[in-house]
Amino acid sequence: MQTPVLTIDGPSGAGKGTVSRAVAKLLGWNYLDSGSIYRSLAVAALKADLDLSDILAICRVAEAMSLEFDCGDELIVKLDGADITSQLGTETTGNTASIIAAYPEVRAVLFQKQKDFQRLPGLVADGRDMGSVVFQDAKIKVYLTASAEERALRRYKQLIEKGIDANLPQITREIEERDFRDQQRATAPLTVPEGAHYIDSSSLTIQQVIDQVVNLVD
Ligand code: DC
Repeated sequence: MQTPVLTIDGPSGAGKGTVSRAVAKLLGWNYLDSGSIYRSLAVAALKADLDLSDILAICRVAEAMSLEFDCGDELIVKLDGADITSQLGTETTGNTASIIAAYPEVRAVLFQKQKDFQRLPGLVADGRDMGSVVFQDAKIKVYLTASAEERALRRYKQLIEKGIDANLPQITREIEERDFRDQQRATAPLTVPEGAHYIDSSSLTIQQVIDQVVNLVD
């Protein structure tokens, strides 16, 4: 039997992570946070002080890196045995991930690492190109989005809650820049996959989105 896959694509801050994790837990399926793979590579590239335009060097690091994911209540990621979870969520890591994710050579190296997550009883895969490229055959595809202002506000509140200094206009600008880069790149741009269920979460609660997505799975 083919392992069923539910893909959830969309821009940063639309709530994909929270929704995907909750849905995977409810269904008892595996969970792939593909952004964390790009973010882990960004951490590795920054640690190695790589020139971000040196595609070959980034590919070498991508091929060599060993990643371990512990998908409990909180996702724990180890890069070459070291816990890098706390570095994954920073703006620097996210922006670097968005830059290196634009290289087709890098995406090709990371492709199989993502495919390896497709194991029984099922997979919830969250990212930008899960339904359009990596799991094109997925039975159920969701495109989850929200306005840039709403996503920036959510990110701002998250940072303030964590006691981290934050600037709303700057976050909004960065979100818009990242959207633009992710949507305009030549390879696997962020797009609504064919046949995807389109959900705008701007005025929905997380629970309402989770219910809508779970209802798509019979
Ligand atoms: O979802 P996220 O913010 O953790 O993703 C970080 C960056 O990684 C994002 O700006 C684009 C890239 N990414 C990608 O290109 N393809 C994916 N499937 C997931 C993330």
